[in-house]
Amino acid sequence: MHAAAIVAAAGSGSRLGADRPKALVLLAGRPLVAWAVEGLLVGGVADVVVTVPAIERAAFAAVLPSTVRIVDGGDTRTASVRAGLAALPREADVVLVHDAARPLTPPDVVARVLGALTAGAQAVVPVLPVVDTTILVADDGTIAEAVPRAPLRRVQTPQGFDRGTLAAAYAALPVGTELTDDAAVVRAAGVPVVTVPGDERSAKVTVPHDLTLAELAVTLDGS
Ligand code: C5P
Repeated sequence: MHAAAIVAAAGSGSRLGADRPKALVLLAGRPLVAWAVEGLLVGGVADVVVTVPAIERAAFAAVLPSTVRIVDGGDTRTASVRAGLAALPREADVVLVHDAARPLTPPDVVARVLGALTAGAQAVVPVLPVVDTTILVADDGTIAEAVPRAPLRRVQTPQGFDRGTLAAAYAALPVGTELTDDAAVVRAAGVPVVTVPGDERSAKVTVPHDLTLAELAVTLDGS
């Protein structure tokens, strides 16, 4: 098995309120994207393609290993992953798609996703249970319905795929259809998606509080 990864890093990260694209925001002195790429490589991925905002190519190249391929992303995450797929090395037969916004994903999670692919899964996602009471809210803001949380899961990245399966699913997805993750793209093509345990350390950095927690996690890890 030859595993390659696409790291989606072309977002602006406006909710973080930073002065640069989110993937270049520093966590303990290193850009989020550099953390994310390292976790993939340590976890067993051979090649990495990073999709970036076109005008920031040089800034990304300056902080990533020279073996990483940098390509221009698109206006949406779906478009960015499409661009990454087109830049994968020929020999890759499995593909992990990861968000630069999840910098502290442990290599163990990467290895679990790769393990499920080795065992024959066409598509695999890391998941965590939902711990809060979960509800549906009506238009007027009142509770319409409580949702039983036992079968609910939060879906993380990296998500892993047989390369041919992912490429075919993206090819079948009408251009302009925007989905928030890649499992949704293969499910739209009728592909079953298996789950493996995720990790709280894979938390997504979206708002400033998330970055504060990630800084704390790095500090505690090194102490
Ligand atoms: O906006 P959100 O946090 O959901 O984005 C998830 C990931 O997708 C981020 O790592 C972001 O950089 C990436 N992205 C992208 N291209 C876009 C928008 C988001 O690669 N046009």
